[in-house]
Amino acid sequence: MNHAVVTAQVERFRALVARHLGLQFEDAKMGWLADVLRRRMECNGRTAEPSLARLGVRPSRNELGALAQELTVGETYFFRNIDQFHALRECVLPDRLRAPGARRGLRVLSAGCASGEEAYSIAMTLRELLPDPSCELWIRAVDLNPAMIEKALRARYTAWALRETPPAAQQRWFRADGRELVLDDAIRFAVTFEERNLSEDDPELWLPGAYDIVFCRNVLMYFAAESAQALVARITRSLAPGGYLFLGHAETLRGLSQAFHLRHTHGTFYYQHKDGVAPTAQPTPAQDSEPDAAGRVLAAVVETADTWVEAIAKAAERIRTLTQAATPAGTAAGSPGRWHLGPALELFRQERFAEALDLVQALPPESARDPDVLLLHAVLLAHSGQLVQAEDACHRLLAIDELNAGAHYVLALCREGAGDRHGAADRDQAAVYLDPSFAMPRMHLGLLARRAGERETVRHEMAHALALLEREDASRLLLFGGGFNRETLLALCRAELQATGKSR
Ligand SMILES: C[S@@+](CC[C@H](N)C(=O)[O-])C[C@H]1O[C@@H](n2cnc3c(N)ncnc32)[C@H](O)[C@@H]1O
Repeated sequence: MNHAVVTAQVERFRALVARHLGLQFEDAKMGWLADVLRRRMECNGRTAEPSLARLGVRPSRNELGALAQELTVGETYFFRNIDQFHALRECVLPDRLRAPGARRGLRVLSAGCASGEEAYSIAMTLRELLPDPSCELWIRAVDLNPAMIEKALRARYTAWALRETPPAAQQRWFRADGRELVLDDAIRFAVTFEERNLSEDDPELWLPGAYDIVFCRNVLMYFAAESAQALVARITRSLAPGGYLFLGHAETLRGLSQAFHLRHTHGTFYYQHKDGVAPTAQPTPAQDSEPDAAGRVLAAVVETADTWVEAIAKAAERIRTLTQAATPAGTAAGSPGRWHLGPALELFRQERFAEALDLVQALPPESARDPDVLLLHAVLLAHSGQLVQAEDACHRLLAIDELNAGAHYVLALCREGAGDRHGAADRDQAAVYLDPSFAMPRMHLGLLARRAGERETVRHEMAHALALLEREDASRLLLFGGGFNRETLLALCRAELQATGKSR
């Protein structure tokens, strides 16, 4: 039997995997995908063309299961991202129990449950909150990988899987059997496990309004953008009005859905279906002759200013004398929207904030519904010290696009200006969560921590900001960099790090 495969066949295989399983693999994984394809050909006793043809038409459940075993990452453990379980117990469950129809019980889906630890952690949390066995709990857990479902059904784990499990839960719900820890039947039988493909539009799995809460953690990160969008649409449809969605800590709905409110409690982020829920709520010169000197000046200004917004205002004049005023063409942020924001951005780049603000405010009233206009307006208002108005512009923007990381960052500046340090840090954290590559909220978190004397946090955030600033997008630096260029901001971060006893 010829088990040779050529690049074009591996490409087709990759596309078929994305179509049927939703999974996306980058070019660096092509060699490994070729090995997987060969193994499947060997196992099925077919050469490449018939194998791909079969996969193209209608792959059997067995074949999808076998592919899932080869291609998916099943890493999981009990109470992973435990903050989310605190939020589940203290906010989400009480809220769902107050929802209309809650007397029927609670319905939870663990989508991409792997070997069951997530679903069982949900069951323990629910049982502890609702000890009355008459309260109906329905926890459904699904995964494409049959080996994972089998392991979940066995409900026997190693101590490693319980590494984040609170001692009280370990004692209450597990008993040792040799080297294994056996899960109590009361939890075991509270969960129904099924082999299901999240990439399929399975009408039974995705019945409208079927779930109060969906956990779909560390699954979307492996999905191709289109598959992720389709899966989020199914989850949206199957959530009851006001229902909740938990994603992995490195995953966001940014760019995938506008159907959810972002929730931030217990140091973690999650989402609530909007239905039925009222809403709560400069220039970057390519070169800088003396970046470190500018950074030192800025650090000194930051020292005497009460807030970062104030530092922006105080430092602008002094920094300008140290940096080259000229900016090469083409570094200004362009606006892809309907409104021509170029002139306002050019004035902004020249630090002529008041004139830029006049231009934005002279735009036709319907522009106030354009997210780009609202964001620029908010930034300009913040730069001119009109923090209440800036905050209002941010809230209007968030009403259209709740997952806009820039709006959360500008709100952080406004909150700091209003003396609300915790509110400011909260907004920065939301910006960081929504866009992990966004440098400015990291730097701002570092500055907030510095004022609070939290040395470790200063180190952590400034080191992060430093790494991100090196790669930060030029137009974003222009908009959010407070009028400072990349080198100056880098120098500020280095100076702050040095002050904590660590430098880079
Ligand atoms: C990294 S694990 C996440 C487990 C758990 N949710 C957690 O966060 O700890 C990802 C799981 O998603 C499953 N998965 C990937 N693609 C899937 C699909 N198309 N349908 C169902 N499950 C899928 C994998 O089999 C794997 O068990």
